[in-house]
Amino acid sequence: MLQEIVLSGIRPSTGGLHLGNIQGAVENMVNLQNSGQYQCYFFLADLHAGTTDPNFKEIRENTYGVLADMIACGLDSEKSVISRQSDIPELAQLHLFFSYVTTVSELQRNPVYREQVKELGLNGNGLSSFLNYPVLQAADICLYRGELIPVGKDQIPHIELTREIARRFNELCGKEIFPIPEPLLTETPRIPGIDGRKMSKSYGNDISLSHSEEETEQRISQMITDTKRPRLTDPGHPDNCPVFALHECYSSPEEVERIKAECQQARIGCRDSCKPALAQVINSALRTPREKRQELFDQPEELEELLLEGAVKARKVAIETIKEVRVGLNLSRIS
Ligand code: TRP
Ligand code: SF4
Repeated sequence: MLQEIVLSGIRPSTGGLHLGNIQGAVENMVNLQNSGQYQCYFFLADLHAGTTDPNFKEIRENTYGVLADMIACGLDSEKSVISRQSDIPELAQLHLFFSYVTTVSELQRNPVYREQVKELGLNGNGLSSFLNYPVLQAADICLYRGELIPVGKDQIPHIELTREIARRFNELCGKEIFPIPEPLLTETPRIPGIDGRKMSKSYGNDISLSHSEEETEQRISQMITDTKRPRLTDPGHPDNCPVFALHECYSSPEEVERIKAECQQARIGCRDSCKPALAQVINSALRTPREKRQELFDQPEELEELLLEGAVKARKVAIETIKEVRVGLNLSRIS
């Protein structure tokens, strides 16, 4: 049976994966992988990370961290093809070819790009690699003929553009070389960070696999709570409390009910009871993956070995695609 192709990339970030990444993207990837229904390709998007600042020395370190985290969370190189973008030279070729069917103005209109330009204050001096970010992503997807792309909704514009590029490219070649990929929207439970905003490295409000148990306790003790509950004797509103939102993800349903009731009746304290209980459930849920991530992270040679094996598998497919594309474009067959 021909399996559908699931494919997704993760940008290596400093300090590895946080609870939001794990509960959303990574857990979803692990489920897709373990369903046995798909051929999965997961890769570390180090070249995408370089589009804003090509500091590949640092990006390499971050790649090891995120890879160790991904494996610690259950991604398995026996079941999925796990690779690093920069190990696949065929990708650069497809990226060039895709630029022949992409206009500058559609890249400039991309909402993700526009928002970043505003946020980073780039006034026309942003890198062209950054403008081309979605073209590289389209090449990622099409190189392996990805069909289902698990992503968060912020990535939808990129998938839309990939669909457009794939269509135009097929037309240019007069052949259906690429399937038109579909986004597979990742249902993410809202994971608030310690300041109540969405959990994100860039806000510095994350709880991560790379944190120690003490750091986790420390961070949870700093969390904001229901702002309408300044005193222990005030009844709380758990639905407006980020500590409660995390309890809903990590504590048992009975425990969640108990906390809810006792908070509303002003019978438990945030600092002396609710937060320490949260630190405890999170630390115990993360204990095994944390040990595993540390073990892997301490052996970069093993991680390189794993990436090398992944690259061999990925390139087998990539080389076939590039061959077909070169024929489609009437270029020489050298690849
Ligand atoms: N741009 C994606 C993100 O920031 C990462 C990514 C790179 C990706 N290439 C991809 C996701 C291909 C899906 C498919 O999250
Ligand atoms: Fe939030 Fe818990 Fe305090 Fe209630 S008791 S306000 S749920 S931290």
